[in-house]
Amino acid sequence: MLFGGRSGEHEVSLLSAASVLQAIDKDKYEVVPIGITKDGRWLTAEHAENLLQGKLVIEPRHLRAGDPEITQPAAVLARGEAVVVPPEPVHRQSGFVPFQTDASHLRRASDRAINVDVIFPVLHGTFGEDGTIQGLLELADIPYVGAGVLGSAAGMDKDIMKSLFIAAEIPIVKHVTVLRSAWENEPKKLRQLVERKLKYPVFVKPANLGSSVGISKAHNSKELGPAIEEAARFDRKIVIEQGVGGKKHKAREIECSVLGNDEPAASVPGEIVPVKEFYDYNAKYLDEGSELVIPAKLTKAETKRVQELAIRAFKAVDCSGLARVDFLMDPVMRKICVNEINTMPGFTAISMYPKLWAASGLDYPDLIDKLIHLGVERHEDKKKNQYSR
Ligand SMILES: Nc1ncnc2c1ncn2[C@@H]1O[C@H](COP(=O)(O)OP(=O)(O)O)[C@@H](O)[C@H]1O
Ligand SMILES: [Mg+2]
Repeated sequence: MLFGGRSGEHEVSLLSAASVLQAIDKDKYEVVPIGITKDGRWLTAEHAENLLQGKLVIEPRHLRAGDPEITQPAAVLARGEAVVVPPEPVHRQSGFVPFQTDASHLRRASDRAINVDVIFPVLHGTFGEDGTIQGLLELADIPYVGAGVLGSAAGMDKDIMKSLFIAAEIPIVKHVTVLRSAWENEPKKLRQLVERKLKYPVFVKPANLGSSVGISKAHNSKELGPAIEEAARFDRKIVIEQGVGGKKHKAREIECSVLGNDEPAASVPGEIVPVKEFYDYNAKYLDEGSELVIPAKLTKAETKRVQELAIRAFKAVDCSGLARVDFLMDPVMRKICVNEINTMPGFTAISMYPKLWAASGLDYPDLIDKLIHLGVERHEDKKKNQYSR
């Protein structure tokens, strides 16, 4: 199990990992915890369970996950030993080797290698959910949970994701993508372009991020510039979208969990009711009061529509294993659009993804089990491919 990582969702990942570590069937699986520090070092510790005495406290609202006294994952990060995954297939064995900069240690590294059967990258956001870690695991030829390189990368990039949704005739809100360099060179022209295509309020987002970081709502022309500059701090591509709900209303936020490989299934939909004007970083992780409603209050036909669109979105970005598909619904017209797909959604026992499966009859430990099997299945399927004549 990989967790932590260099992204802004490091702490969220520690919580997800702590939950998995606690719930996974320990008679069936022997878990090797590998923590990735904020600056990208990989660390492991034998018997992560023993690093902490007593019961795990999950306090997602306060993000104290990084405290080594609070979660086992944080304890691994604080006390672990360095390891790496070599980017080459190791026949019949695969996994981690100790990492030392001193060459004499490296020579004996193979004796202390940790062989694993499958890797569960419980990593959110940049370098975890965007295809980069998946690329390493492909090179190392180790089965892993979740989407592959392409699905992860396409699901992470809101601009590319939208192109794929449009090609699959999946309804999305109107949008314009602008490059940071274009904004720097010709701000006037870009403002005109945005205002010709969209009406205020608009949402301005960095194309590749998550957890609402860098996202703002521009209510008028005056707020557009600062919103674009904020997003431009995080990415060279900026996505600007028509705000659902318009000036008077808030969008309804419906989410649906998808599970499977070539024949994915959709869960019952749920709804998020944020405390704030929109579901920003504070509403997600810090402020109390945002509500999860499961199942979402939708008509039978709307529920079916959400589930059907969730599966189509999953296939459109070539996903596998799991994904949470998020929707925006106009509260008055009840028009449903896909907002985004998350290929490694929040995964604590109390996160939306697992809760929607629990409400659909698959509880958390069985969900973990199923995901691991899907990862292995995908790897087996890939083995059928020849790479040369
Ligand atoms: N077009 C939109 N109309 C209304 N609300 C939006 C729109 N886009 C985003 N939001 C609000 O902003 C939040 C974060 O946007 P989202 O695209 O989901 O980014 P992230 O990948 O960071 O979760 C959403 O959960 C929703 O509250
Ligand atoms: Mg979102």
